[in-house]
Amino acid sequence: MGAPWSSGTGRLPDGALTVGGVDVRGLAAQHGTPAYVLDEADFRMRARAYRTAFEAAFGAVGTGVDVYYAGKALLTVAVARWAREEGLRVDTASGGELAVALRAEVPGAGIGLHGNNKSDAEILRALDAGVGRIIVDSLVEIERVARLAAERGVVAPVMVRVTTGVHAGGHEYIATAHEDQKFGLSVNPVGDTGSPAMNALLAVLKHPELKLLGIHSHIGSQILDPDGFEAAARVVLRLRADLAERSGVLVDEVDLGGGYGIAYLPGDVALDPERVAKDIAQSVAGVCQDLGTSLPRFSIEPGRAIVGPAGLTLYTVGTVKPVTVSDAGGGAEFVRTYVSVDGGMSDNIRPALYGAAYHAEVVGRSSAADTVLARVVGKHCESGDIVVHEVQLPADVRAGDLLAVAATGAYGRSMASNYNMLPRPPVIAVSDGASRVLVRRESEDDLLALDQG
Ligand code: LLP
Repeated sequence: MGAPWSSGTGRLPDGALTVGGVDVRGLAAQHGTPAYVLDEADFRMRARAYRTAFEAAFGAVGTGVDVYYAGKALLTVAVARWAREEGLRVDTASGGELAVALRAEVPGAGIGLHGNNKSDAEILRALDAGVGRIIVDSLVEIERVARLAAERGVVAPVMVRVTTGVHAGGHEYIATAHEDQKFGLSVNPVGDTGSPAMNALLAVLKHPELKLLGIHSHIGSQILDPDGFEAAARVVLRLRADLAERSGVLVDEVDLGGGYGIAYLPGDVALDPERVAKDIAQSVAGVCQDLGTSLPRFSIEPGRAIVGPAGLTLYTVGTVKPVTVSDAGGGAEFVRTYVSVDGGMSDNIRPALYGAAYHAEVVGRSSAADTVLARVVGKHCESGDIVVHEVQLPADVRAGDLLAVAATGAYGRSMASNYNMLPRPPVIAVSDGASRVLVRRESEDDLLALDQG
């Protein structure tokens, strides 16, 4: 059907949506709603597309690249396996995500561990699993990782996360000297104490228990303009050259983070991996030439761009209510049709948290009715419980209709909650005409299991 739907979606002659060759009516009957539905072939296709595009583009300028799937977008054991089978590594951001990757038998060497406040337990687990890289985020943490590595008698492979002053997201990027956020260490000098990033890199080099792999930068999420990646890469490569001058160590690796933007609405244009890979590769090759340094090996960490479009959420409509509203200026009145579904902000917090826009369609049948301006809402006890702010739906939308929201694969399940004691929906994979449960639906017993009475 085209973006924002996964590549494996289509409509049957009677109007029903199919995904991965499976009729959504059958999915709803078998697994219930709400449900997260994941198109396995689409996930694999995007994972491959990112890997092959970046390998080709960076190969063409004479270096290599590793693609880490950012598990925070959605991590289940099967999803981690798919990523690995498609030649990706896995980026984790907590002990829990690390546990999923390990359960999926992703080799430790192919796992990265992030986080601005990792616990001793998380760091030890990473060291014991032999993770390929721990991305350190502060001076305190450098000391902590060094102490724990000494305790275990190992050398910890680390990258230092830096802030380049380049923020991106949406359609533009901005560059500032000092970013006002918790992640990373600024490349820009502070007073007469020098640059926090340089100080951290030098601190790592002083520790025999640490091996400095390289420099990491992540500039934002849902980025649709590749200029931000190039601007940040330039800053990181300059820092790498400065470090070589100061210490004699030219680090081997540079990670440019994730953030590759996708289509959420019909008409949105996602970043094209081939295009963006070529732009970044050519740009970093030029920068290294200007700096007179060899090219490092690169890595990237896309999450949303791999799993976002592969997912949709299937709901059942419960109530339909026309509400007469006046526009903000107190002017003309119009009718907005409130369509309530059987989930809401507990299975997708993004509209409430970020004002994120989504697209929805009635997917269990066709309709010849005109469309009306609708707002899809959930069943939670607050008016901000919005699933889709604004969408045209058939005027005959009614209780019992199946409704799907597109492109919910990333940051839907992974940010889900049990607000109002709603059980979290299952994650159902579809492929080749069959469905299987990756994560089962929570039950009331699950919800009560932790309650000690
Ligand atoms: N690498 C690092 C270090 C990150 O912090 C992130 C996202 C990624 C990779 C993956 O970014 P992606 O390719 O998925 O954009 N919850 C928000 C997004 C927060 C992302 C945080 N870090 C959302 O729902 O839009």
